[in-house]
Amino acid sequence: MNGRILTIILSVAVVFSAIALVPRLIAMRLPGDHSGFEPEQPIAFSHRLHAGELNINCQYCHATAQRSRYAGIPSASACMNCHKFITSRRAGIRAEEEQAKKEHRKPNQVIAPELNKLYLAIKTSTPVRWNRIHQVPDFVYFDHRPHIAAGLDCQRCHGPVETMERVRQVETLNMGFCVNCHRGRDGTTLNGHPVKATSDCSACHF
Ligand code: HEC
Ligand code: HEC
Ligand code: HEC
Ligand code: HEC
Ligand code: HEC
Repeated sequence: MNGRILTIILSVAVVFSAIALVPRLIAMRLPGDHSGFEPEQPIAFSHRLHAGELNINCQYCHATAQRSRYAGIPSASACMNCHKFITSRRAGIRAEEEQAKKEHRKPNQVIAPELNKLYLAIKTSTPVRWNRIHQVPDFVYFDHRPHIAAGLDCQRCHGPVETMERVRQVETLNMGFCVNCHRGRDGTTLNGHPVKATSDCSACHF
């Protein structure tokens, strides 16, 4: 093959693979301090309301934290366990009932705008695209299981989520954050079992 043509083919291939890489680079979390990261979410879901005021257990929604690497985000259909019946905050429903009484008519159903987004997602079978907040870089291995089994509270690493209207990363999640706790716990016992919190590089980096 002619050398010029080969060069052209190769340049085109390089450009296309670079273009293909861009979305991956944007999605990838680079090392560094991401504490304070508090992205807006597609539905204004409030942990202060659900985990705080209503006192719903964290693991009711993040059920896989104790049996898999990931804590998991509940699906829209899990929200529907309650929101099939609850279409708005009680205060909104009460206000409509009073208004209807004044106007001598039957109260209309009140559907909160943020819940309407949930109903639309269910109706069109489109998953809600929540923005990821806590994420370690690809070269770090983290697994929820041993941490939950060791009796650590979610709040130790995620801060007081039950007070947050919108989830914010509180800790740096850098290497010092992990290793400092591991050093302090290694060799201690929990419920009679020795804790093995390693500082071995290969436990967190393959
Ligand atoms: C009613 C369901 C529900 C309950 C209860 C709940 N969560 Fe969540 N959680 C969600 C949803 C939905 C998201 C994704 C949207 C968001 O970030 O707010 C989420 C996101 C998160 C995130 C951020 C995930 C990321 O991308 O980094 C953390 C951390 C978290 N929850 C911790 C907790 C803790 C700790 C509790 C208990 C104090 C709790 N959650 C209770 C539904 C719930
Ligand atoms: C265990 C029951 C339960 C689950 C599961 C649940 N919610 Fe709720 N949610 C409630 C209750 C109860 C209220 C109303 C509280 C009130 O009346 O003040 C509410 C209120 C809301 C509101 C506020 C509505 C308004 O009027 O502004 C939104 C938005 C919402 N929930 C979204 C979600 C989403 C998204 C999920 C799934 C990730 C979810 N909820 C899961 C019980 C639940
Ligand atoms: C020892 C620290 C630690 C504890 C304890 C912890 N987490 Fe996490 N969590 C993390 C780290 C680190 C990440 C990012 C992991 C990654 O990028 O894979 C994360 C990610 C998450 C996420 C988003 C990704 C996913 O795993 O689905 C959710 C939701 C979450 N945690 C919820 C919880 C809940 C709920 C609890 C308590 C039951 C909890 N976490 C306990 C450190 C912790
Ligand atoms: C608050 C304390 C604490 C923090 C913070 C913490 N860990 Fe751990 N980690 C533990 C404990 C305790 C264990 C051991 C549990 C046991 O002995 O069963 C453990 C175990 C592990 C294991 C399993 C090790 C093995 O040999 O099986 C890995 C991997 C791990 N942690 C990674 C991380 C990473 C990555 C981070 C930071 C993003 C982190 N940890 C932050 C307390 C912590
Ligand atoms: C308990 C888990 C854990 C252990 C053990 C661990 N690391 Fe890390 N390491 C991390 C985390 C988490 C990051 C990501 C830091 C960030 O996001 O900024 C990291 C990042 C790094 C980086 C990238 C530069 C930086 O600081 O961000 C290097 C290099 C590194 N680790 C080397 C090592 C070596 C060498 C060892 C063994 C002596 C080791 N790590 C042990 C969790 C760990």
